Amino acid sequence: MSGFLKTTVARKYAMGLSGLFLVLYLALHVTVNFISTISPDIYNKLSEFMGYNFIVQALLQPILVIGVVFHFVMAFVLETNNRKARPIKYVKYNQQSNTTWMSRNMIYTGGVVLLFLALHMYDFFFPEIGHKLGTGYDSAVAHDFYHEVWIAFQDPVRLILYIVAFIFLMLHLLHGFYGSFQSIGWGDKRSAAMRGFAKWYSVIVPVLFIYIALFHYFVKL
Ligand code: HEM
Repeated sequence: MSGFLKTTVARKYAMGLSGLFLVLYLALHVTVNFISTISPDIYNKLSEFMGYNFIVQALLQPILVIGVVFHFVMAFVLETNNRKARPIKYVKYNQQSNTTWMSRNMIYTGGVVLLFLALHMYDFFFPEIGHKLGTGYDSAVAHDFYHEVWIAFQDPVRLILYIVAFIFLMLHLLHGFYGSFQSIGWGDKRSAAMRGFAKWYSVIVPVLFIYIALFHYFVKL
């Protein structure tokens, strides 16, 4: 671990920053995918742009991958250190009375999102890379992004797995988004407005993802 990230405060700060960055990415991702429910044509053009634009591919995508990996690795480092620092569980002090279920289970809700990401990369990201590299590992309808998404959601098992994951994403964000503001020291004066914004965002974004998944399941091509 680098010198800067040796203290718990610095690690929490870095965790908060990477969390906010991922929250921003989710806003972009949900907007682009929501467009698929309005216009397949615009969605395909946007996806084509993101998939082949040099700046997006050479700069933004690597930053995103580093952000995701960093967030998860740091979560496990912080969790392991917390457990080492508190090997015996409190007996008298009842944690449940002043913390939420979401805040106590961030590592598990995050773990489910991580499992979802593995499935999600298998569904969309790896076939896309395979297509670009010409490895033969590709999707059945390469280059028709809309059709790719539609096919993925025709499988009811996948639909249910995705919806369950989006509910866990909601639980994770409900504590994590506002927690990120606090970790980087933004939680004091503007607290009520920011807490409200974080809460609404944490509900609306996963609900939109659920809507997109259901839309593709039910729409007929
Ligand atoms: C209905 C919901 C969703 C749909 C339809 C969807 C669709 C897609 C598609 C088509 C790609 C491939 C883009 C490419 O070719 O490069 C992709 C990539 C990705 N998705 Fe999603 N996604 C959904 C939800 C999510 C959620 C909830 C997360 C995060 C928790 C997420 C994280 C990512 C990441 C990290 C990538 C790889 C980076 C990228 O290429 O943009 N997605 N998604």
